[in-house]
Amino acid sequence: MRRLPILLACIGLASCAPGEDRPFNATEEARRAADAAQQQAATPDPEQTEADTEVGTWTKGAMVAAADPRAVEAGLEMLRQGGSAIDAAIAVHAVLGLVEPQSSGIGGGAFMVYYDRAADEITVFDGREIAPASTTPDHFMKDGKPLGFLEAWQSGKAVGVPGQIALYKTSHEAAGQLDWATLFQPAIKLAEDGFEVTPRLAGLLANPRLRGAVRLDDLPASAEYFYPNGEPLPVGFIRTNPDYAATLSAIAESGPSAFYEGEIAQAIVDAVNGDANPGEMSLKDLADYSVKIRPALCGDRTDGFRICSAPPPSSGGVTQNMIMGLYDLLEPTEEAEMTEENYLKAFIDAQRLAYADRDHYVADADFVTVPATDLINPAYLRVRAEEAFAPDETTYPGDPGLALGREPVRPLWGEDATEHGPGTTHVSIVDADGNAVSMTATVEAAFGSSIMVKGFMLNNELTDFSREPTKGTKPVANAPGPKKRPRSSMSPTIVFDPAGDLFMVTGSPGGNSIVAYVSKTLVGVLEWGKSAQEAIDLPNIIARGDTVGVEIDRPGGMEAADALRELGYNVEEREGENSGLHVIIVREDGLEGGADPRREGIAKVLE
Ligand code: GLY
Repeated sequence: MRRLPILLACIGLASCAPGEDRPFNATEEARRAADAAQQQAATPDPEQTEADTEVGTWTKGAMVAAADPRAVEAGLEMLRQGGSAIDAAIAVHAVLGLVEPQSSGIGGGAFMVYYDRAADEITVFDGREIAPASTTPDHFMKDGKPLGFLEAWQSGKAVGVPGQIALYKTSHEAAGQLDWATLFQPAIKLAEDGFEVTPRLAGLLANPRLRGAVRLDDLPASAEYFYPNGEPLPVGFIRTNPDYAATLSAIAESGPSAFYEGEIAQAIVDAVNGDANPGEMSLKDLADYSVKIRPALCGDRTDGFRICSAPPPSSGGVTQNMIMGLYDLLEPTEEAEMTEENYLKAFIDAQRLAYADRDHYVADADFVTVPATDLINPAYLRVRAEEAFAPDETTYPGDPGLALGREPVRPLWGEDATEHGPGTTHVSIVDADGNAVSMTATVEAAFGSSIMVKGFMLNNELTDFSREPTKGTKPVANAPGPKKRPRSSMSPTIVFDPAGDLFMVTGSPGGNSIVAYVSKTLVGVLEWGKSAQEAIDLPNIIARGDTVGVEIDRPGGMEAADALRELGYNVEEREGENSGLHVIIVREDGLEGGADPRREGIAKVLE
């Protein structure tokens, strides 16, 4: 069988020569941490006092990783002023909404996973967009048929009530250190002075395929902003956005009420309800928006590492823990089988099983019963691993109810075929006290619904619901509903080492491929011993449904595609992958960062 030297072999591991068939153990550092934690547990110190157990001083430094250097700089500036990870995240994101309007912004929503080191607590701020109260399950149906994806996607109907500003406020109240207004100053200044248009933004605006799919040219405010004189903004153009500066100034001065009530709220409602394919959003929908503070969904690995991510309606906690748990069960144990292809196969089969389950069960748990903890229960994963599909077999969901000796749950729901767009961004931050933020934010499609209001883009997140509310006679868990949040693939994730200390912050944009992208960094770092950057650089491999998408335009991608074809998988060769992974790892000697070369971001330490 062909070897996959670049994809999987021992990059950066001096102990692991090419051709050696055991490159997939945890890193030396991870092993040392696991040994130390085990030793500590085995030999309790009789002299230990309560003060000894208090959290010590953080000595590893601070870092910001995000999709644009100007946004990273805004975050570092907040940290320099004594701000927390949450202060930095808000400043970073307010800039991203300006310089990367295709990905996220204050007209969208986000999930933020926050680790408070002193309290040793992990919290999720769910700022997901909400369907207006008028939404019915057949929101995207017409004459008994679902609207076409593009028709639904590019419409006022698809706009959810934005959650981003409420998330800023709720998280800032929980752990902000700086004055609220301070957080918006870098973005306001850049919007007033003008920012330089990047190759990625200019490339998207000039891309005929994207131009054909979205409506930026057709809607006057968007057309004027992105296509002055009918031409797409070129690279290097200095684009001012006085409307965005005014919007942020109002929010800085008056708080979220400046957004959720009054002139801005009215402009949002007018734009949504006045669209050619209108929604039905009310001022009350905006005034009623509230962030949900949820416990993180965490899973413990057999090596002592703990993976925490966002719970439903995000798929992060379920899928990342399922994939890593299933990988452990599926990876080869017999020496003769320990080939690189078989380790890769374990990762692919784990993804296929997890994607099938998440597509069936994950939705807004405030509205439907989601068996989230059952799906990551080791007893269920053992049963599920036995069901690993043959490479040419159609995937189907498991039944955690049945597997755990209870009533079956699979028949409760019909099959879901929700589609996702790629307009999303990810921010990873560790602050000078060792607190961490992992936040993935989105407007759904590139440039959301294409509707620009007061200098920002409105999302089209409601197409993250299943357009068909039933399949056969069965309801779909992720069907639209009043005040319901659509399921998300966003997987903002924080990993703890066996001693319970912060180890890794990771996440990515990329539509429903997010699940695969983020798990690549987990398996890459925790199993294959990669650095943050090496894990990000691995070719993306997305195993959802009956095909395995392989990114062939990255080193190792074509070898992986060939090897997977030999194993019998239905390989779809992919180019121009859209991940935007931003990763921070806590190493013994400080923080190690990585930024996805497929986008324009950086990871930078606080000097
Ligand atoms: N709109 C992308 C997601 O939430 O998964």
